[in-house]
Amino acid sequence: MAYENILFEVQDGIALLTFNRPKALNALNPQTLEEVRDAVERVRQDDALRVLVFTGAGDKAFVAGADISELQKMNPLEARLFAERGQEIVFSLEALPKPVIACVNGFALGGGCELAMSCDFIYASERAQFGQPEINLGIIPGFGGTQRLARLIGRAKAKEICMTGERISAQEAKALGLVAKVFPAETLLEETLKAARNLAEKSRVALRAIKQAVDRGMDVDLKTGCAFEAEAFGVCFAGQDAREGTTAFLEKRKPHFTGT
Ligand code: CAA
Repeated sequence: MAYENILFEVQDGIALLTFNRPKALNALNPQTLEEVRDAVERVRQDDALRVLVFTGAGDKAFVAGADISELQKMNPLEARLFAERGQEIVFSLEALPKPVIACVNGFALGGGCELAMSCDFIYASERAQFGQPEINLGIIPGFGGTQRLARLIGRAKAKEICMTGERISAQEAKALGLVAKVFPAETLLEETLKAARNLAEKSRVALRAIKQAVDRGMDVDLKTGCAFEAEAFGVCFAGQDAREGTTAFLEKRKPHFTGT
């Protein structure tokens, strides 16, 4: 499909998806969600694409949330379907068997914060700001924000952020464990792509196993989570990459992973 609201670029096995409605601070309308859904499916199907990176066009916003002009017209059923559509997309990022990085270059609010939280980790610029300001619109987060924020930073802080609608800085988000690293705005994208290229050289099998073990483990008790881990650990040994990685270490050379 042709994209109007996102840019989709591919380089060195990295897919870079840029939300591209800078005049609306990259707000998510239904068309944008459809384009993101299509692009994520392309990444899923294309073996040559190893890592997906999300960022926002312009120097102000990653994504300033769902498009409020669309929300303003919705009836309860439409709103529910819109939330379900957004949730389908954020779940599809967690289900993608490849690393997904959010490169948050500015406002990540509402649906933007929710999308970033469903990525495997977040790199943010010093100028980035995070928040769930839906309360100020008389509504609540709809793309999983009440659930993922509480799981990521604890329920009291998550409730404070959702109830007050106050924004937090990149540094505060890092201190809370929401953001993995903070970079100057000028180097954020370069640093994120460097990390993505680094991941693209690692074992696909092991990356997928880490993602699945961590994500599945978050929803279950420790013993069940560790059982997932042992199973995933075993799966790594079914392919060539485990042999290559361990042999390369012993032979004091760089491993060459083939993803088999
Ligand atoms: N939807 C639609 N348009 C938006 C938007 C949004 N979420 N956020 C910003 N815009 C538009 C503004 O209306 C404005 O358009 P015009 O130039 O045509 O007037 C343009 O983007 C620039 O925005 P501002 O002039 O407001 O820029 P600012 O620098 O003064 O403020 C801001 C920036 C603090 C991010 C402010 O724009 C803002 O508060 N935006 C709304 C954030 C928000 O409430 N997000 C949650 C949406 S609901 C949601 O996401 C539900 C869910 O869980 C899925």
